[in-house]
Amino acid sequence: MMVVNRNLWKAVDAYVTGTIVMPEPALEAALAANSAAGLPSIDVSAPQGKLIHLLARMAGARKALEIGALGGYSTIWLARALPDDGRLITLELNPRNAEVARSNVARAGLESKVEIRTGAALASLPRIEAEGLGPFDFVFIDADKTSNAAYLEWALRLSRPGTAIVVDNVVRDGEVADAASRDPDVIGVRRMFELIAREPRLSATAIQTVGAKGWDGFALAIVKGA
Ligand SMILES: C[S@@+](CC[C@H](N)C(=O)[O-])C[C@H]1O[C@@H](n2cnc3c(N)ncnc32)[C@H](O)[C@@H]1O
Repeated sequence: MMVVNRNLWKAVDAYVTGTIVMPEPALEAALAANSAAGLPSIDVSAPQGKLIHLLARMAGARKALEIGALGGYSTIWLARALPDDGRLITLELNPRNAEVARSNVARAGLESKVEIRTGAALASLPRIEAEGLGPFDFVFIDADKTSNAAYLEWALRLSRPGTAIVVDNVVRDGEVADAASRDPDVIGVRRMFELIAREPRLSATAIQTVGAKGWDGFALAIVKGA
């Protein structure tokens, strides 16, 4: 029987974080502020945050959209990947989380780049479209998993050929492979996979990850050319 050593996953994350990820002090401060404010510790890990940052840089992103800010930890990683005149719009349902995120983003000196919109993402997204704020170069989806398919549809509406889309928490301790799962989050993730499967504009994969946040993974997609 395979022995799963979660402590070893954490130790490797700590090693990678301390050697090559090197989070800046504002990121550490954001996590401390989140904890002090009682926010759940469901932000991406430092290596995952750096992955989002690197992917956005590799995509040459100038305009980014994030769905699900929590206290702004991934927001800061992503905003740091954008050029000085870049822009990140992040959507957060919970006003308390949004307030903490605003303070964390301000401490990181990223206020001019980041706009945090409070409210249900599915209400904010049509306004973003109506305001002509797209297309976005990079979209990070990390909110309620039940709406993942709807968020992906919006990401496509607000995209251009070449837009990179990353969706977090798509493996869920392996339960994503269980077609009989009754977990609403798993069902939401599977609906998103089914949407990708029938969407000719997307080329995608998903990668399983282990680490400080357990066993999960990211879906990665690019919007194909016309
Ligand atoms: C996993 S946390 C985001 C973590 C964050 N991306 C990070 O890594 O630092 C998910 C967030 O999505 C927010 N959320 C849940 N439902 C939402 C909705 N309908 N619209 C916008 N945000 C929502 C939650 O309040 C929570 O703060």
